[in-house]
Amino acid sequence: MQFSAKFADPVAAPTDCIVVGVFQGKKPQLTPAGARLDRATNKTLGAALGRGGLDGRIGGAQFLYRPPGIKAGCVLLVGLGPKPDAKRDDNPSAATARRRRGAAIAAKLLDERGIASALLCLLDGDGDGGGDGGDDSAIRRRARHIAESMEDILYRFEQTKSGAPKPRQLKRVQLLCERAQLAAVKRGLREGAAVAAGIKRARDYANLPGNLCTPAFLAGEAKRLGKQHGIAVTVLGEAEMKRHKMGSLLSVSRGSREPAKLIVFEYRGLSGNRGRGKTRGKTRDKKTGPVVLVGKGLTFDAGGISLKPSAAMDEMKFDMCGGASVFGALQAAAELQLKLDLVGLVPCSENLPDGAANKPGDIVTSMSGRTIEILNTDAEGRLILCDALTYAERFQPAAVVDIATLTGACAVALGAHASGLFSDSDALAEELLAAGYASGDRAWRMPVWDDYAKQLESNFADLANIGGRYAGAVTAACFLKHFTAKFDWAHLDIAGTAWKSGAAKGATGRPVPLLVEFLLGRAEKRG
Ligand code: BES
Ligand code: MN
Ligand code: ZN
Repeated sequence: MQFSAKFADPVAAPTDCIVVGVFQGKKPQLTPAGARLDRATNKTLGAALGRGGLDGRIGGAQFLYRPPGIKAGCVLLVGLGPKPDAKRDDNPSAATARRRRGAAIAAKLLDERGIASALLCLLDGDGDGGGDGGDDSAIRRRARHIAESMEDILYRFEQTKSGAPKPRQLKRVQLLCERAQLAAVKRGLREGAAVAAGIKRARDYANLPGNLCTPAFLAGEAKRLGKQHGIAVTVLGEAEMKRHKMGSLLSVSRGSREPAKLIVFEYRGLSGNRGRGKTRGKTRDKKTGPVVLVGKGLTFDAGGISLKPSAAMDEMKFDMCGGASVFGALQAAAELQLKLDLVGLVPCSENLPDGAANKPGDIVTSMSGRTIEILNTDAEGRLILCDALTYAERFQPAAVVDIATLTGACAVALGAHASGLFSDSDALAEELLAAGYASGDRAWRMPVWDDYAKQLESNFADLANIGGRYAGAVTAACFLKHFTAKFDWAHLDIAGTAWKSGAAKGATGRPVPLLVEFLLGRAEKRG
């Protein structure tokens, strides 16, 4: 979809459809542009308000065809919920969520009706509420959300169905704004399109089944992405992993016929292309080092010898969603030419039962030298991540964020609404929580206190890979924490947020929006 910012009189706008926001209140209220259109059309818009559920509530919408007195062929009234209000919206993402929802519903209806171009009057008149201040950066972010959510709702996955994919109808979208807002809206739309493209990439990989989306496939895709976007990509095979003594990662892939891959992305928006390899230099410190994203790339998780029950096991093709989000965030960062250095690490493997697979009680030696007793072969995510985390040390990172569909326990704790955030750095945790709120892709902080460390003690090795029945998401994070002493670290458990089950089964692309928001903030601090 092609997005642009528009300062114009909507009455004279030559577009297929004008989308007008309606706020919910004692009386439904049109945006200022809507009020102007209402006068020009002899109150056609106003007459439709309050009827047919169109009282401004989210979900309400109404097409008005051939309204008199204006150039556009039709008007779509769409409910935006209550007007953002800094006082009432104590949860800053509530207003964000409503704006996104309204834009998404509009996109869906426009596309369904075969409408190719539209002018959106959704930004005007929503004031400075919703906790985002209403300044230039807030306007920019609102525009970003509108573009992102319109693309997201029109996403379809048709790669694995025969027959021609249904073509997208809605092709051009203009977002109405004030003259003074043009630059901010333009920038926001560009960012929204980049985030949406990152989300789409993450969803596409995740929706592919395990027989197609293998570690080797992802490695090939990484190289392709690198070429397209000027990101250096190297892929470590099992021989190199052996050289690096990644005994933990290798132990998981031993039970599968698909060889493991460790994908390494290096995007240098700060040190430039000549800096290749320099991200490893000794001169790097906490201030100048790259941000490192580490994503779990388990392309299918059957559990191994600790085999999972068969119900819904197909959904374990989504166990590479963390890795897919690293692809998506890197693509967006490169597309936006963010002024920061960014490394992406995606350890990829399958977890299957096999004669060579890990057995309960097996002890492996990780790259860090620590020995691990594998009491449950289904706790494999932490086994591949711990070696990738140790590998991250060589980049002397400013911060490391790992992203993983790590525990069913996290999905039980937080459901589908928030990703679990774990960090022993308050500053980094606050930064990521804020990015979650601002992007509408929220996380919620959980503890990684040493009090839980006892649960990972083993009689035979330095660490056990499971921590018993209680606080499963926390003990998994505590396991990872053992491998992060050399840098600032945070862990996102996306087991509940990365995909949907049931009729709408499919990947969500989360937490790409959170990650890009976090990276935009880091790049701004630098620039
Ligand atoms: N990939 C799963 C986590 C998962 C399960 C995510 C279900 C979403 C839905 C992970 O590898 C796993 O199997 N974790 C185990 C850990 C346990 C054995 C300590 C789990 O959550 O049951
Ligand atoms: Mn597992
Ligand atoms: Zn897993």
